[in-house]
Amino acid sequence: MRYFPLFLDLDNRKAIIVGGGEEALRKARLLLKTKARIELIAPVLHEELKSYLKEGRLAWVAKHFAPALLDDAALVYSSDDDLHADVSAAARARGIPVNAVDDAALSTFITPSIVDRDPVVVAIGTEGTAPVLGMGLRSRIEALLPQTLGSLATAASGLRDHVAERVPHGNRRRSFWQRFFFGSIRESFLAGDAKNYSRELEAALIDDSSPSVGRVSLVGAGPGDPELLTLKAQRKLQEADVIVYDRLIGPGILELARRDAVRIPVGKKPFEPSPKQSEINTILIREAKAGRHVVRLKGGDPYIFGRGGEEQAALIAQGIAVDVVPGITAALGCAASVGLPLTQRGQNRSITLLTGTAEDGLADQDWKALAKPGQAFAIYMGVNAAGDISAELLDAGIDHATPVTVVENGTLANERVMMCSIGSLWETLTLNGVEGPAIIYVGLKPAKTSADILPFPARDETGQHVLRAVS
Ligand SMILES: C[S@@+](CC[C@H](N)C(=O)[O-])C[C@H]1O[C@@H](n2cnc3c(N)ncnc32)[C@H](O)[C@@H]1O
Repeated sequence: MRYFPLFLDLDNRKAIIVGGGEEALRKARLLLKTKARIELIAPVLHEELKSYLKEGRLAWVAKHFAPALLDDAALVYSSDDDLHADVSAAARARGIPVNAVDDAALSTFITPSIVDRDPVVVAIGTEGTAPVLGMGLRSRIEALLPQTLGSLATAASGLRDHVAERVPHGNRRRSFWQRFFFGSIRESFLAGDAKNYSRELEAALIDDSSPSVGRVSLVGAGPGDPELLTLKAQRKLQEADVIVYDRLIGPGILELARRDAVRIPVGKKPFEPSPKQSEINTILIREAKAGRHVVRLKGGDPYIFGRGGEEQAALIAQGIAVDVVPGITAALGCAASVGLPLTQRGQNRSITLLTGTAEDGLADQDWKALAKPGQAFAIYMGVNAAGDISAELLDAGIDHATPVTVVENGTLANERVMMCSIGSLWETLTLNGVEGPAIIYVGLKPAKTSADILPFPARDETGQHVLRAVS
């Protein structure tokens, strides 16, 4: 290790930036996170620097560099190539750490990539060897650390005296802080669940070692592409003790989970034996009551045809804390994937999400209202009932030629998109052998031409597309 990492106290210390352009601005933004007195030396200033100047957040002390301007500074940045050598020499002569931007030979320190959850700060350095790697690591760590982590650390510091009074020094106190930072107290704090936070905190203070009740996070995993997971969903996957997941959760998503998390598949497959909802609820309750942090991972969004509401109610009835992380629902993810705007001026003013099937077959929908001109809707779970759905709509008077776009396995490598009219929906699904999960959009067609949007068009034995054009 050539560079020694340390954190420098800049409270009320002078920090100098030489130069007034883009680079100077980047350094100023960093220093503005501290309580340093920032001084600029530059003939002209970037507009954003001028606005900070107006707000009194930094000072413009000189237009031209002179070594004496560095006296008493805690650190110096030189962002002006022409002045690097002079600034570096003057700073070294005064024993002041100096960074000449993009010139390691003239610098005595380098600035790490920073993940800022003040007062918790992670600094990543590669000693200048691989800045892109440093930035990549930073974005991964960003994804892992909740935005509210800093508040957790601040809350801990506010509690320190109280804990010292009530919890004996040594193992007991260590285990209290373990529970605070890594156990259920932290979970309640980060979820903003004040009631459970106070309860868990009091239990830890009196050393109530009966296993604390865990919690369940209902997490939306999006339609399949792991890159469509939210940062919060990724973090939950990294923190989970147990992951209870659906059939439509792709392996790429489980890859992102903590290696030693217990994984419990509870996928339901239409027309096949699968766990009942009450059995899934029982698993969630059992695991949470054993003090575990359970992630209930669901395709798309937990609250959209995901029975998230039922699971939430069952858990709350047992006094188990629940939080919900939204996901990109299939209708949104698939539309984006194939270039299908869900609302367009002059085309439709609303979009309805509906299910095609219910427990006892075709879902009961207001087909008459849906059949009116200008309606646009996305049908979930509609493949098996497609024949009945188009018959209902045609009976209700929908135009036979109303455009339909079907996206199967949307956002995944085996995605397919098919276009047809409502009159030929059933035939199109059958001819193309649609078996995967699919969304059926009625009254919408892609903005792009079909050639642009067909990543995996279905072909027959002669290599011809078997897609139906909109009539
Ligand atoms: C039980 S629902 C779950 C919906 C999920 N909660 C959501 O918000 O997307 C399952 C239905 O979602 C749709 N679906 C889920 N993933 C899909 C995908 N990758 N491509 C197309 N449709 C999908 C299909 O209509 C499937 O039958």
